[in-house]
Amino acid sequence: MRYERLGEVPHKRHVQVRRNGSSSPLLTEEVMGYEGFSGNETILYHLHSPCRLDAVGGFRALEREEWIPDTHVHRLADTVPVEPGGDPLSGRRLLMFNADLEVSVCKPADALDGFYRNGEGDEVIYVHRGGGVLRTVFGRVPFRERDYVVIPRGTTHTFELDGGEQHWICFHTPGELETPNRYRNRYGLLLEHAPYSHRDFHGPAELETYDEGGEFEVTVRVRDGHQSYLLDRHPFDVVGWDGYVWPYTFNADDFEPRAGRFHLPPPAHQTFQGPNFVICTFAPRMLDWDPEAVPLPYHHSNIQSEEVMFYAAGDYAARRGVEVGSITLHPSGLPHGPQPGAVEKALGATHTDELAIMWDTFRPLRLTRLWRDHDKPEYALSWNPDRSPAHA
Ligand SMILES: [Fe+2]
Repeated sequence: MRYERLGEVPHKRHVQVRRNGSSSPLLTEEVMGYEGFSGNETILYHLHSPCRLDAVGGFRALEREEWIPDTHVHRLADTVPVEPGGDPLSGRRLLMFNADLEVSVCKPADALDGFYRNGEGDEVIYVHRGGGVLRTVFGRVPFRERDYVVIPRGTTHTFELDGGEQHWICFHTPGELETPNRYRNRYGLLLEHAPYSHRDFHGPAELETYDEGGEFEVTVRVRDGHQSYLLDRHPFDVVGWDGYVWPYTFNADDFEPRAGRFHLPPPAHQTFQGPNFVICTFAPRMLDWDPEAVPLPYHHSNIQSEEVMFYAAGDYAARRGVEVGSITLHPSGLPHGPQPGAVEKALGATHTDELAIMWDTFRPLRLTRLWRDHDKPEYALSWNPDRSPAHA
């Protein structure tokens, strides 16, 4: 990520700094960084110590309601009927997980009462429906439909929600959520061939600085659970920061899609990388233009990957019977490709209006009861027109 600064930052690091002349107290400098002072970092200047607590609340271990299916098959689930409820944290309903990635559906109905910080992972929220403002210790980050909202670990935040429907796909990784290495030069600059530029990443635009007392609850995800802390000072007391770690949004409509004379594989659509997973954006685009091209994916056996796709908008030609809001899971060990008839129908097509978000993991995913409750088992037979007329 690029260098940014917001608010009041002293001319040198690690110097005495006061806000309003020599009579005011020293500001507290906090270096927030990855990889033990060797990774990306940001320096924040607080009015008070960020360690200050009024009381320590309870710890609640995360509970994962795993569903172990009886069979190993291609799966389809619809997230549209998932009931709204909870707030942007309690409303997350885990759908699938492994040691590298957790994916939840969240349809918050209420505001988050208090603040949240992930102390053991990076998060990205894909906003399928809804919008609002991510309020953070770094400042305010407005978000809207089709945004990826990237929240680095350590970012104390809360949410303001627009009225109306909210439908999010939330990702948590204990690793770092990054732009793919091949899009960056050795200085970190996004290259000309990347499907986005630094201008497409929108960070905090406005600081929120409070020097006020009160009762503030901060929930921190640590040690596979949620630890509650009670503060007597507002956690947003930063007067300035600069560095390379900050929350931002990237809108899927700003992804510049790639196409070829013949079909390009999913890495052409890669948006983010993490340890043992990728996140891709299949954006509306021109299709493969050779007269002999097959404009849909070839059948493939990703013998090392689990492929999961969320259908966000448009008509996905390779998957008939799959609606906006649905998710397919094509697990490792099985080939998959377009359903019968889909290729013939697509021949000659010049463009697609599909928008889909894909996450591939290189280690097996485990499912939860939420998937079980929305599973459509007939999908496994949808490549056989004699067995599955609904999908043929
Ligand atoms: Fe695939």
